[in-house]
Amino acid sequence: MKRAASFTLMLPPREAGQQAQRWLYAALRGEILAGRLRPGSRLPATRDLAQQYGLSRGTIVNAFEQLNSEGYLEAGVGSGTYVNKVLPDDLLEVRKTSPGRRGVKVEAHGQVSDFARRVTPFANLEVRATRAFRANLPALDLFPAQLWAQVAARRLRRASTGLLLGCGPMGYRPLRRAIAAYLSSSRGVNCTADQVAIVSGVQESLDLVTRLLVNPGDRVCMEDPGYIGAAFVFAAAGARVVPISLDDEGMRIERARLRAARLVYVTPGHQFPTGITMSLQRRLQLLEWARESSAYVLEDDYDGEYRYSGRPVPSLQGLDKQGWVVFTSSLSKVLFPSIRLGYLVMPAGLIDRLAAILSITHRHAPVLEQAILCDFIEEGHFGRHLRRMREIYSERHATLRECARRQLAGLLEISDVEAGLQTSGWLCEGLDGESCAAAAARRNVEAIPLSVYTRGRQASEGLQLGFAAIDTKEIRRGASELTRALEQEWRARRRSG
Ligand SMILES: Cc1ncc(COP(=O)(O)O)c(C=O)c1O
Repeated sequence: MKRAASFTLMLPPREAGQQAQRWLYAALRGEILAGRLRPGSRLPATRDLAQQYGLSRGTIVNAFEQLNSEGYLEAGVGSGTYVNKVLPDDLLEVRKTSPGRRGVKVEAHGQVSDFARRVTPFANLEVRATRAFRANLPALDLFPAQLWAQVAARRLRRASTGLLLGCGPMGYRPLRRAIAAYLSSSRGVNCTADQVAIVSGVQESLDLVTRLLVNPGDRVCMEDPGYIGAAFVFAAAGARVVPISLDDEGMRIERARLRAARLVYVTPGHQFPTGITMSLQRRLQLLEWARESSAYVLEDDYDGEYRYSGRPVPSLQGLDKQGWVVFTSSLSKVLFPSIRLGYLVMPAGLIDRLAAILSITHRHAPVLEQAILCDFIEEGHFGRHLRRMREIYSERHATLRECARRQLAGLLEISDVEAGLQTSGWLCEGLDGESCAAAAARRNVEAIPLSVYTRGRQASEGLQLGFAAIDTKEIRRGASELTRALEQEWRARRRSG
C-alpha cells in the first residue's frame, strides 16, 4: 500500500533572483541525493507545495516532470508522485557518508567533553533465543501480557488531561505511594512516598546518584567482582573506582581501601554476580563505617523480590537510622526490562537536590506508564505475579542445584545462593572461566565468565549461570552439555599441562 505524505516538506531557501522552477528542481534533487527524501517516499500534492511556497501549480508540475524524466521521481499508479525506489546507489550521497552505518566510524569534527571520552558503552540486552543459562533475565514468556494490556487500555481510555500534562520530577504521586507501601511491607525499607523517586531503571539511579554525590577524582568503592553497569557510570564521571574483595559474608569492610570514599555501591541482597547475601553483621559494620566517615552507601536491591530460602535479611536502608543509605531497585526483573522503570529511595536531606537534578535532566518518567504500573500494583496483579514467579523460579533453582550436585561435582562448585535470578559456580583448579564459557557456547550453552565482572586484584575463575528465564527441561539439557564441555576442557588441560 502506498503511504500518503504526512509531513510538510522543508526545502532550502530560494536565492534572490533564482528562477522558481530551477530552484524547485535543484532543491528536490538535492534532498533526494542527500537521502532526506527517501526512495519510495511520497511527495506532497502539487496543490500543497504551491500553497506552502507561494508558487503556481504549473511551476511545480514542470519541476516534477523534469525529475521524472531523469529517473529521480516516478508517478504512482492512480495518484501521487514518489521518489524512485531503485535509484542507483552511487547517486545517493547518504549511502557513502551516512554516520552510524555498520562498520563505518565517523569521528566528531570538534572536541567532545572529558565525560564523553571516558564513557565505555554498556551493551543493551540482545534479542536472541533464550537458552540455558542465560543470566540477568526473568521469564518473559510467563509475563501476563494480556492482563497488562487490559489494565493499560482501561487507564488510557480514562486518561485525564492532568495525566497528559505531566508530573513532578520525582514521579507520579500515586505510584510513589504504592511503591513506598510495597517497600515498607515486603522489602524492609523504611520510607515515605516523599522519599521515593520514579526513574528509568537502576541505570538512571546510578547516573543520578553519581551526579548528586561524586566529583571527578573522588573515590567510589564497589564489590569485586561487581556490576560493570555501575563501574562504567562512576568511571565516566571521573571517579576513581576502587574494587573491594568479597568473602562468604559479602563485601569485606577493608578500611584502608574504603578510606576517603565518597560513595560505596553494594548489592547486599544478592551480590552481583556471585549471589552471596551480605550477613547482618557485615551490614552493621558497613553502616558503622558510613556513619564514621560521613559517606553514602548506594544499595542496589535489583532482584530482592526473589528469596527462596534462608532468613530474610533487612535491607541496609531499613537498618540505617541516620540517613546514609540511598536505596534503588528496578522493575526490569519483576516485570520486563523494556519497561525502563525503577525507583530510588532517598535520605530526607538529599530529596531537594535530587529533584532539582531531575528537573533539568529527565524532567520525569513517562506518566502514562507510571499510571498503568500504579493500577497494576493497586489492583493486586503485581503481588500475584511476584508470588507465582517466586514459586516457578524456586523450582528452577532447585533443579539447577540438583543437576549440579549430580553431574558437575568436582568441576564446578555452585554457590549456595538463596535469592535472585542467577547463581554462580566456582571452577575447580586448573580450569579458567573464559575457555570454559567458550567450550559451553560450542554446545549451545551460555555461561558468563566471572572475570568479565572483575576489575581488581584477584581473578575470579567461575561462571555466572541464569536459571529463571528457562524451564526445567532446558536446565537439564544445559547441565548435561555444560558437564561435557567442562570435562572436555579438563582433559585438554591435563594433556597440555
Ligand atoms: C546489579 C544490577 N543492578 C541493576 C540492574 C537492572 O538495571 P535496570 O533497572 O537499569 O534495568 C541489573 C540488570 O541486570 C543488575 O544486574
